[in-house]
Amino acid sequence: MDKIRIRGGRALRGSLPISGAKNATLPLMAASLLTDGTLALANVPHLADIATMASLLAQHGVGIGIDGVAPNGGHAGRVMTLRAADITNTTAPYDLVRKMRASVLVLGPLLARAGRARVSLPGGCAIGTRPVDLHIKGMERLGARIELTGGYIEASAPHGLVGAEIIFPTVSVGATENLLMAATLARGDTVLVNAAREPEIVDLARCLVAMGAEIEGAGTDRIRVRGVDRLHGTGHEVIPDRIETGTYMMAVAITDGDVELVGARLELVGAVADALAPAGVTTEATPRGLHVRRTNGPLAGIDVMTEPFPGFPTDLQAQLMALMTTARGAAMITETIFENRFMHVPELCRMGANINVHHATALVRGVPRLTGAPVMATDLRASVSLVLAGLAAEGETILNRVYHLDRGYERLEEKLAACGAEVERIRSP
Ligand code: EPZ
Repeated sequence: MDKIRIRGGRALRGSLPISGAKNATLPLMAASLLTDGTLALANVPHLADIATMASLLAQHGVGIGIDGVAPNGGHAGRVMTLRAADITNTTAPYDLVRKMRASVLVLGPLLARAGRARVSLPGGCAIGTRPVDLHIKGMERLGARIELTGGYIEASAPHGLVGAEIIFPTVSVGATENLLMAATLARGDTVLVNAAREPEIVDLARCLVAMGAEIEGAGTDRIRVRGVDRLHGTGHEVIPDRIETGTYMMAVAITDGDVELVGARLELVGAVADALAPAGVTTEATPRGLHVRRTNGPLAGIDVMTEPFPGFPTDLQAQLMALMTTARGAAMITETIFENRFMHVPELCRMGANINVHHATALVRGVPRLTGAPVMATDLRASVSLVLAGLAAEGETILNRVYHLDRGYERLEEKLAACGAEVERIRSP
């Protein structure tokens, strides 16, 4: 398995391109199941999770093509075309779903278009139990019959889905996306109450509307969908990745660097910029993206709580914790979305961090410096937090289990190295 070697202590300088958003692309790809027309997605990132979703869709009968590269030789300009002329198989098998939970996003589109779906239950994962009960109850509200047997969700709606009011007891990004897609082809109106407001949902709704769907209120907690008989193909450009943006904002801050994040958009990371400002990190919009640098000397500890959008994202909690390890004073970081998302803490402590966890809160007391170490993590964001720590640490850090990073960060080591970091991938023989 590949490893990443980092020699810390270099400030990041220059410009760094932000890729298309993984978590926007995955539901957009699933939306291709809703039509027999061609969906052309631009700005699709080159990532392992995107490849997993492509394999899943291919085995449902979707024809997939990839075209184009960005002018800089990267993949940011990739256009993916997806055409589900016929749905040839309505089963999402265990082997693919267990690799990537977002596979469950095919449930709504398959039910809506084919009248049935058999989707493996994803099971727990490294950051928590992560049930899919809200997806299932929502589909039932739309009239689907659902049974859970043999580890699978067996869903059917032979006479089609019927619009309904669905009130989510907790905010769920995936359940909102799944129900939004299903409702586009249901008979009558659907209202999603306490819907997630993430930019990825707005992006999905924009694409669905371009496909002929009737949707109002995406980006608020109340989304209304008027079902239509059919959707058609369209072209759509994926929004920039706000989590990648936030990750590099913190990489710049932890190395006391000065970088322009090209393609990034301030409105997607408003809560992150606001949280980092009192820590001494300045984020300014430029014509091409965002300019990030430290302006007030040493970093200061800040208190942050993760929340659904527009709050501070859980997907940046681990990176913020890495940043706070060398801040002056203490920082209190509270995780409210997932119950088990502090797996990076023991690894950061092995690099010299001083962190105490009490239930859902981590108290980080800043230390003068971190020291490099061999480390590994069990999920994507925890892994990248160790990369950030390595960039600031004295000496060498070797990150194992790099496949986690490859799920969500396009060309990470190339992007960092181009800004002056000493980082390289050691390929396994
Ligand atoms: C999405 O996951 C993201 N994934 C996650 O990013 C992100 O951490 C998460 O939203 C929260 O922002 C994708 O977009 C592909 P949820 P999702 O449903 O949709 C509970 C990354 O690193 N819940 O909003 O699965 C759940 O357990 C990943 O890129 C239920 O109880 O998250 C959690 O506590 C990791 N029942 C909370 O809701 C359900 O049926 C929010 O989860 C569904 C969710």
